[in-house]
Amino acid sequence: MRGEQETVRINRYLAQCGVASRRHAEDLIRQGRVRINGEVVAGLGARVRPGVDVVEVDGRVVVPEDERVVVLLNKPRGVVTTAQDDRGRPTVVELVDLPQRLFPVGRLDIDTEGALLLTNDGDLAFRLAHPRFGVEKVYHAVLDRPISAEDLEHLQRGVMIDSGMTSPCRARTLGDPRRVEVVLHEGKKRQVRKMFRALGYQVVELRRVAIGPIELGSLPPGKWRLLSAEEIRALRREVGLEVKPEESAA
Ligand code: URA
Repeated sequence: MRGEQETVRINRYLAQCGVASRRHAEDLIRQGRVRINGEVVAGLGARVRPGVDVVEVDGRVVVPEDERVVVLLNKPRGVVTTAQDDRGRPTVVELVDLPQRLFPVGRLDIDTEGALLLTNDGDLAFRLAHPRFGVEKVYHAVLDRPISAEDLEHLQRGVMIDSGMTSPCRARTLGDPRRVEVVLHEGKKRQVRKMFRALGYQVVELRRVAIGPIELGSLPPGKWRLLSAEEIRALRREVGLEVKPEESAA
């Protein structure tokens, strides 16, 4: 067990982020351009808890180049879930301005918006995307017409789509019978759209609002944020990854 959370001086931390030399970092601090957790850094003695505190320079989040990070992006419609697109369409990776080489966890199709995780942590990404670990994903769909109670039942029992029968899932209407919440533990290609299509409905809007314990909340489309140490712990627990000592010492 480790005791206190390790901290580093802010100027050293900024140098590790590749932002500036330690000397130049001091200038940035004096100029009031550096914030820790939203507060302007007042003195050169300020310290940072790596992986816990959010540090910004001129309003941009900075992170040490070798740190493992997990980002929650609200993927907008029209953006593809790949690192590169040979047709030149905008990609989710281009929306996240961090020095790490991040890759998306699973996929959202081009017309779907909402919660998408990106990370440089291969183990975590693999488990989150793998159906064996059954991480719950919550979708909100808007349909072309109201769903009947019978079809809602049918959806939950499982429907036949091109890749086979879907597993039992939870579904409920959200006040209006054209708006349906679907909770899946699997992620076949365009699964939600295909499930509704199999029952004769068109999905006119689709948004993923949660992945396991991580909720999209009010993050606007196209925006991203770093997950906190606590959120990363919750995700790791969800997929049975050991909680590491440095992650449990908050
Ligand atoms: N289901 C879909 O139809 N599309 C997605 O992007 C995700 C789930």
